[in-house]
Amino acid sequence: MASVFDRIGALVSCSCILFVLLHLFSDGICMADAKTHYHDFAIQAAKVKRLCKTQNVITVNGQFPGPTLEVNNGDTLVINVVNKAQYNVTIHWHGVRQMRTAWADGPEFITQCPIRPGGSYTYRFRIQGQEGTLWWHAHSSWLRATVYGALVIRPKEGESYPFVKPKRETPILLGEWWNANPMDVIREATRSGGAPNISDAYTINGQPGDLFNCSTQDTTIVPIGSGETMLLRVINAALNQQLFFTVANHKFTVVGADASYVKPFTTSVIMLGPGQTTDVLIKADQPPARYYMAARAYASAQGAPFDNTTTTAILEYKSTPCKAKCTSSKPIMPNLPAYNDTNTASAFTTSFKSPRKVEVPTDIDENLFITVGLGLQNCPPGASNQTCQGPNGTRFTASMNNVSFVLPSNFSLLQAHHKGLPGVFTADFPSAPPVKFDYTGNVSRSLWQPLKGTKVYNLKFGSRVQIVLQGTSIFTAENHPIHLHGYDFYIIAEGFGNFDPKKDSAKFNLVDPPMRNTASLPVNGWSVIRFVADNPGVWIMHCHLDVHIGWGLAMAFIVDNGVGELQTLEAPPNDLPVC
Ligand code: C2O
Repeated sequence: MASVFDRIGALVSCSCILFVLLHLFSDGICMADAKTHYHDFAIQAAKVKRLCKTQNVITVNGQFPGPTLEVNNGDTLVINVVNKAQYNVTIHWHGVRQMRTAWADGPEFITQCPIRPGGSYTYRFRIQGQEGTLWWHAHSSWLRATVYGALVIRPKEGESYPFVKPKRETPILLGEWWNANPMDVIREATRSGGAPNISDAYTINGQPGDLFNCSTQDTTIVPIGSGETMLLRVINAALNQQLFFTVANHKFTVVGADASYVKPFTTSVIMLGPGQTTDVLIKADQPPARYYMAARAYASAQGAPFDNTTTTAILEYKSTPCKAKCTSSKPIMPNLPAYNDTNTASAFTTSFKSPRKVEVPTDIDENLFITVGLGLQNCPPGASNQTCQGPNGTRFTASMNNVSFVLPSNFSLLQAHHKGLPGVFTADFPSAPPVKFDYTGNVSRSLWQPLKGTKVYNLKFGSRVQIVLQGTSIFTAENHPIHLHGYDFYIIAEGFGNFDPKKDSAKFNLVDPPMRNTASLPVNGWSVIRFVADNPGVWIMHCHLDVHIGWGLAMAFIVDNGVGELQTLEAPPNDLPVC
């Protein structure tokens, strides 16, 4: 569809002008080395048919998945979002650091009020020092089920990948589909207090694949030439499920994740939590044929229901295009790990390293210990049973350090912080859980019910932060993809059981740990992350399973301004939506 228009304005840099002057009378051609990309995103309903049923879904410009944005490192994006739908909406540029531009980050009620139906807002930000694959998605209720797309960041003009340039590049967006309006699914769960319905299919680039009825015709085909190498930019855009992804008979070389390069390693299967991206090279070194690419759940919570279907696309060697005989010769199907194969998941997540030695913060100013897990809220006095359909007449909840996060509703946290408005949040998020307990053991019922609050944690500009994320086994232990806005962080260690500072500090990788924006917190385990608080603003940290965000599995950091303009949050844009 040609509904996205992309004007490109070239900004000529100083070095470029110098280049022109020096070569004024020669044949030198000035390469513009930073561009501004303009896009229009109309949030609108569109009819989409999947699994034999037509649904009215919310899209960007009528496209599902939404448009892929392609930029070079250093470029600026200007995206005018017009809300033509019936729901409030915001768009988040997942993983973009948003240096000094927190106003453009997007999470509803954190950095902006929602764009109301009929309203609009222009997001302006620059990509700085990030290369690889990120993505964008709605950050309001469950709209991101259908409002998402890839953000491809290539090296600056004239610079190259730290690996042999692949012949082709293909974004692989893993999604999740309901035979229902996802907004109704979450509304019903919020009312009942129970768990929301599981999805009916996963999708690859919006398509469930030919293991499903009515889906063969539109199955995603990924062409490849024999001997060619292709870069797959895999994004887990599913709402609530970690996914394994593999291609029959082919190996992956992992070269990047969350828009940072990694030390290349090979594997036949990858695992991504929602929010995470993984860039892999795949070589067409097998007999020309058709091979399934497949994804299905890594479901770590024991006994919890999950969508156990498999989504497929087809890697098709160009010398064997699908003719009439395709119906008879099925593509080759890969083996996928078992749903509960935590060994494979953790072997994969612990294989990541930065390409070389990096500067990990060492003298830590802020050492936080944050428990992450579910909970059960007793049925409020006087409430109807209909609203307490969680286990044993409770409502599901979730928390960090026993605080179940509640979004404000009259102001965004960033506005309140910027204007110094009292009463919107309190700055008393605890740096450790109020009670120490055996986090991954048999937790006393008295510790299952968290407090509610809009609590933030203040960080001085430039502080060196370590966070131990500790999973709990409250109600049920499971893997949580923990995402921090506004930052990339180093994951210096992860493990199972309770974090033990004496024993486990020995495992810290302070040499070449991977840089990510979303950590895969092991089921019944812990992860340790470090970053320098060099980006002023309000930044939410949350589990990227949308079902858990709604239950309160989030908190926010306020990072103060530093000294001078370059360490100070920009002024809010004039069109910033108000509540
Ligand atoms: Cu992918 Cu809070 O976001």
